[in-house]
Amino acid sequence: MSSSRICGLTDLPDGIARQIEVDGAPVALVRIGDSVLAVADTCSHAEVSLSDGEVDAEDRTIECWKHGSLFSLETGEALTLPATQPVEVFAVRIDGDDVVMEER
Ligand code: FES
Repeated sequence: MSSSRICGLTDLPDGIARQIEVDGAPVALVRIGDSVLAVADTCSHAEVSLSDGEVDAEDRTIECWKHGSLFSLETGEALTLPATQPVEVFAVRIDGDDVVMEER
């Protein structure tokens, strides 16, 4: 499986989501300590950017700022209403100073 660099590790502040375009689609990237997690940036409830929401580093969730749904950054699952559908998750990893995404 091949992978491609999507940003530098230093581009990602710890515990704050960043929106990155990958193949023309917005992805919310979140660095939590030594790991980086990535989910589709558009909330499954409405056209709202999840990367503008707050990250809970301990629970590894992101909260949609619009109506407050919590999404798991690990599974993409909508954990609280009003969203009921998951968001896509992407396989990303840290490679030295880079953050890379596995090809889908
Ligand atoms: S837009 Fe995200 S919960 Fe409504």
